[in-house]
Amino acid sequence: MKDKMIVIMAVLAAIIATACNEKTSSLQEAEIILEKRMDSLLSVMTLEEKIGQMSQVNLESGITEALLESIRKGEIGSLLNAGDAINRKQLQQVAMKESRLGIPLIFGRDVIHGYRTVFPIPLAQSCSWNTSLVEKAAAIAAYEAASDGIHWTFSPMLDIARDPRWGRIAEGNGEDSYLGSQLAIAMVKGYQGDDLSDPASLAACAKHFAGYGAAEGGRDYNTTLIPETELRNVYLPPFHAAVKANVATVMSAFNDLNGTPATANEFLLRKILRTEWGFRGFVVSDWNSVTEMINHGYAAGEKDAALKAVQAGVDMEMVSRSFTHYLKELVQSGTVDEKLIDDAVRNILSIKFRKGLFDNPYPQAPDEITFLRPENLEVAKELAIQSTVLLKNDNSVLPLRENIQSLAVIGPLADAPLEQLGMWTPDGRVEDAITPLAAIRKKIGKDRVIYVPALETGRSTDKSQFARAVAAARNASACVVFLGEEQILSGEAHSRAFLDLPGAQEELITELARTGKPIVLVIMAGRPLIFSRISGKVQAILYAWHGGTMAGPALTDLLFGIVSPSGKLSVSFPRAEGQIPLYYNHRNTGRPPQPENQGIPAGTPLDPVNFTSNYLDLDYTPEYPFGYGLSYTTFEYSPVTLSSPEITAGDTLIVRTSLSNKGKYNGTEIVQIYIRDMVGSITRPVKELKGFQRITLKPGESREVTFKLTATDLSFYRKDLTFGTETGEFMVWVGKSSADHDLKGISFSLSE
Ligand code: NOJ
Repeated sequence: MKDKMIVIMAVLAAIIATACNEKTSSLQEAEIILEKRMDSLLSVMTLEEKIGQMSQVNLESGITEALLESIRKGEIGSLLNAGDAINRKQLQQVAMKESRLGIPLIFGRDVIHGYRTVFPIPLAQSCSWNTSLVEKAAAIAAYEAASDGIHWTFSPMLDIARDPRWGRIAEGNGEDSYLGSQLAIAMVKGYQGDDLSDPASLAACAKHFAGYGAAEGGRDYNTTLIPETELRNVYLPPFHAAVKANVATVMSAFNDLNGTPATANEFLLRKILRTEWGFRGFVVSDWNSVTEMINHGYAAGEKDAALKAVQAGVDMEMVSRSFTHYLKELVQSGTVDEKLIDDAVRNILSIKFRKGLFDNPYPQAPDEITFLRPENLEVAKELAIQSTVLLKNDNSVLPLRENIQSLAVIGPLADAPLEQLGMWTPDGRVEDAITPLAAIRKKIGKDRVIYVPALETGRSTDKSQFARAVAAARNASACVVFLGEEQILSGEAHSRAFLDLPGAQEELITELARTGKPIVLVIMAGRPLIFSRISGKVQAILYAWHGGTMAGPALTDLLFGIVSPSGKLSVSFPRAEGQIPLYYNHRNTGRPPQPENQGIPAGTPLDPVNFTSNYLDLDYTPEYPFGYGLSYTTFEYSPVTLSSPEITAGDTLIVRTSLSNKGKYNGTEIVQIYIRDMVGSITRPVKELKGFQRITLKPGESREVTFKLTATDLSFYRKDLTFGTETGEFMVWVGKSSADHDLKGISFSLSE
């Protein structure tokens, strides 16, 4: 008892003394104080208590006495999915008041694209190319989740994904490292705010480190083989950006990277993350990813898995309990140096201190008012608008006239609140979601809307309602059809080998098209789908992804032209699964496909004489390229000019174009700049995005758009793995998508 008092007094004295000074001290002093606080705490922790900090438990079913006892004993440092705010408060009270040292728990949760206010899925958000709006959404998600007692989100997912079969493509920012990095910064800033200790912020988690998005065959959890130059040039930049933005935590991935599971990958977790990038937060494993190394064939058993994970640099184990079971023995036998444990605990404590948990450990009282605030719903609506991509609009069938006589609203996703919320929304509620049907009815009046779901669910093959749907289309002035994927078809472990519209959806379009009525197809999905068989049968296609709580009002504003679509694809859309992986920034090959190889329809090989890198039976280009997206208005670009045709590494190259709105509507264009390094010590991509700007213009308005390129923009990880430029010729293009025909280019050279 006396011992305990001394320990508590020592810790309290250190904490109180230092806390008082903290506010007035400079940043550097605050760091010193923090180190001291951690030192004093660490010096009184037992080995068991240290290992406890390294263990994260999932609260499966209610709070049990066994769980409380574990917390009392200091065996648990963090919980995920810990019930509600009341549960979290109860658990925290036990940690603070009944454990020997009173170290607060950190509560984590998958707050992936919103909390109660659900924003579009991350892949959709990335199509807005609007970093400040994405940041705002993350800040709102943080505010709502934090008010419910959550400290830490397992987001953003920064995995570059070039394979739409992979269900988790929905959860990331698409295929491009530059766009992915900009959004990584925005999301980290949004969640964490300016000050991690702000109770309205969340600690963020950059995941899954690293290479997870390259899962072979698009099958989740599958092996990845990524050469180091590719890893550094393509897969790591968003993570590096997040670390530079001070992300609090990083999650090690499930995948085996080049023969070493990411969770035991010292090269990733120590060499790159800590030594090269100077990451100062903590690394959490993924769910059971420590003990899954036994299945990988990398660990002989739980003990070996614990050893390999901790040696590699995993600080906290999620769900599996190998640290709890074996770390003590591993330290006592001298296999693991206790210093490794101290380092891990220090990393965890530093985030708990920075998050302010020692000073403010308790969740706020649940307060319904903090959820779904009207101004936050407006942000959700705006983001759903900006995430939607107009793929096709023949004869300007969109926007619809508000005084339209009657509108047939057809399809299983027109009124499916759960589906529009998308994957990973454990805290979203269907009753909060406003569906397109509800919003359209509100907009033009119930009487002018004829609604037929036509299929019971998105996967249904029962066509018994088709006749009613066709009759509705015949009787209406136009027809809006809501098709796509239900939320269950994307996300973790939900990979698909075929990417077509499920069930009898294509047949529905074929039947409706026979009426001759204009058809607007709205596709709600968690990934790029393949629908080329029916895209010629409809006049317009809006790709809406899963747009979240406010998807309905957002789509209604777009359909009726209250605002023009502005989203641009952050991922290439294939024509067929056989083209995958398909991405715009591929290399050229020794026999690049020729323009005359374009236009080959899917089917039997037509002309087997062909010695370029394309397909006998299908065009090699994507159905819709990266960066593509139409507007109701038309934008024109002037030729590109440069400040100089030749620069040196110290110069800044100014690239100019003029953008004009030549159409009839206000519109926002996302102007994109790409470069190509023509010859390199390793072959370079045919194009690389290096910047973008959202420009809003009124009809008839023009604006000069300038981009600045510096040596950093021209740098890459070279053959010898150093980062830098190589002199020689470059191309630079500016335009509306990554496709050649959408770009205007000019060359320049970089000299010593
Ligand atoms: C497994 C997922 O891979 C990860 O992204 C998620 O954060 C954890 N489960 C926790 O739910």
